[in-house]
Amino acid sequence: MNVQKVISATLIPGDGIGPEITEATLMALDALGAPFEWDRQTAGAAGVAACGDPLPPACLDSIRRTRLALKGPLETPVAGGYRSSNVRLREEFKLYANLRPARTIVPGRFDNIDLVLVRENNEGLYMGYEHFIPIDGDPHAVGMATGINTRQGCRRICKFAFDYALVQGRKKVTVVHKANIMKALTGIFLETARQIYAEEYKDKFVFEEVIVDACAMKLVMNPWQFDVLVTTNLFGDILSDEIAGLVGGLGMTPGANIGEQAAIFEAVHGSAPDITGKGIANPVALMLAAAMMLDHVGRLDLGNRLRKAIDETLNIDQLRTGDLGGKASTREFAAGVVKRIQAGS
Ligand code: NAI
Repeated sequence: MNVQKVISATLIPGDGIGPEITEATLMALDALGAPFEWDRQTAGAAGVAACGDPLPPACLDSIRRTRLALKGPLETPVAGGYRSSNVRLREEFKLYANLRPARTIVPGRFDNIDLVLVRENNEGLYMGYEHFIPIDGDPHAVGMATGINTRQGCRRICKFAFDYALVQGRKKVTVVHKANIMKALTGIFLETARQIYAEEYKDKFVFEEVIVDACAMKLVMNPWQFDVLVTTNLFGDILSDEIAGLVGGLGMTPGANIGEQAAIFEAVHGSAPDITGKGIANPVALMLAAAMMLDHVGRLDLGNRLRKAIDETLNIDQLRTGDLGGKASTREFAAGVVKRIQAGS
């Protein structure tokens, strides 16, 4: 008798390469016998095409019910058009922590990387308080944006990062800021981090402070000096792509958006319009996001099996997609992972 608990989860295949990498990921999850019962929904450009809404109410209702989602990339128009559905989802469900682990799986330019970036997901310069001031007939003569960081938001994300470091047995947490220039906006973040560390976490791990521009350079010169990094929204967005580049590119890095009301798992990369429909996208990032989702629901056994199967497919079978220098299609790679899972990974 199968006594495995079924877990309802929302599935948003997304735009561009989203449906291709989602199909590959479902192949692997099916082979594992993962406990998810999917409620398929659309958002982003697919939501606009289906019902004229980049974040349809049915999609929001589904996540409200399941509190758990696996999401492909969602397209956002550049400079104008609708607001990012990703940002709206993070706001709607107060997904304040964006967890982005990056680990070397395929040895390359940088070996043995094992970094985790924790990005504040709801505040900072991404709040959308932006406007133009027209002057002399130029409607866009001046562009303005207001960033907001709150004490409560800084506390929440710093505590999340510090607790994560403790639970995972990490040695060091680096707080990344620009408090020398943006003394209020990122000063409050640094001040809060220092305070919480001194009051609640002293000597439980090494606490370090780095200015964001120096951090970007140090990550390229010697990434092994870092362990867990925690930072504000915009810096986290930029640094996590840089970190993805250290471990083989965007096709290799998963992300989790976590809040008190829901958790949404995704690849760090976007919809990759340049390769959409060619069947060559790397599904590893979304597969690793699915492994994080399995960890999140307490199925570390399945999460670890999936990570092991991916590792073996890449390194023993040498099956790799084009972004990693290989020739495998998305489906061939997925079939390789399934084979590894069935063989006992
Ligand atoms: P992108 O991440 O889609 O692509 C950047 C480059 O990486 C492209 O050359 C692409 O082919 C390559 N790439 C990305 N994922 C890959 C994969 N799995 N396998 C192989 N190659 C891969 O970034 P871009 O072009 O700036 O954004 C495209 C769209 O995606 C935009 O509308 C953007 O707003 C959206 N986006 C959505 C995100 C999300 O839903 N979380 C995150 C980032 C961007």
